[in-house]
Amino acid sequence: VRPRDHGEPGTVLDLGPVDEVLPRGRARVEVGRDGTPVLIVRNRRGVFAMRNRCPHRGVRLDDAKVRGKSIKCAFHGREYDLRSGDCRSKPPGRRDGRLTTYRCWVDRGRLLLAVPAERS
Ligand code: FES
Repeated sequence: VRPRDHGEPGTVLDLGPVDEVLPRGRARVEVGRDGTPVLIVRNRRGVFAMRNRCPHRGVRLDDAKVRGKSIKCAFHGREYDLRSGDCRSKPPGRRDGRLTTYRCWVDRGRLLLAVPAERS
């Protein structure tokens, strides 16, 4: 997804019609001034947005498996809660315990994302 503008931190970005943006239930977008990589996924449980970096080693979550309200990193298998970002498969560590999640929702068929206020 390439939004016309990447959104100012703290604002809401309209990414377009949800069925066009997420035809296969997954989309990548870069938002904010620093181009924060965001992964958006949709399933029967809802629409979820997160920083597209696994907190463990910082790899992209493009190939991560999504099941219900959790996402499982394809590299070492850590599983994170899609809403809270909490790591479900291992007790949170000092620095790599939590996936950064963002507010994302559908309003009148349009996919909206709260642009992160700062790099996280
Ligand atoms: S890089 Fe994701 S679990 Fe290790």
